[in-house]
Amino acid sequence: MKKILIIHGPNLNMLGKRERTVYGDVGLEEINKKAAKYGQALGYDVENFQSNSESDIIDAIHATPEIYAGVIINPGAFTHTSYAVRDAITAVNVPFVEVHLSNIYSREEFRHTSVTAPVCAGQICGFGPESYVLGIEALHRLLQNKKI
Ligand code: DQA
Repeated sequence: MKKILIIHGPNLNMLGKRERTVYGDVGLEEINKKAAKYGQALGYDVENFQSNSESDIIDAIHATPEIYAGVIINPGAFTHTSYAVRDAITAVNVPFVEVHLSNIYSREEFRHTSVTAPVCAGQICGFGPESYVLGIEALHRLLQNKKI
């Protein structure tokens, strides 16, 4: 079975507890479970990784080739700041889909820029935990070269 990796960046381990008016009540474990179930139905084994450390995220990205058919990444605040995460994505020949729970474009100005999205196949944001499921669907279509 093909594998997909979900990478969750900093503070996403706090989902369900942090800023619930923005991010909702659903915790990371439940998001991972739902994503795994959705991926499984499409024929993928979905694994997940969360870290608050930029260097661990970069190492996880470097380790993706030959293992994962594609990656869903929510880089958290590194989305707006990390050229290093961006360069890591560029360094591997694996398709990435960027996802965010919140609509980063309707929030503070500093969130309007994603330095990582331009090196991903695309970005999905604003659908809460569903963003991950939509990300898997998008990655699947990309991998299948499927169009509407
Ligand atoms: C986030 C949006 C980021 O701006 C923020 O720093 C996060 C979460 C989201 O999923 O909506 O940590 O990536």
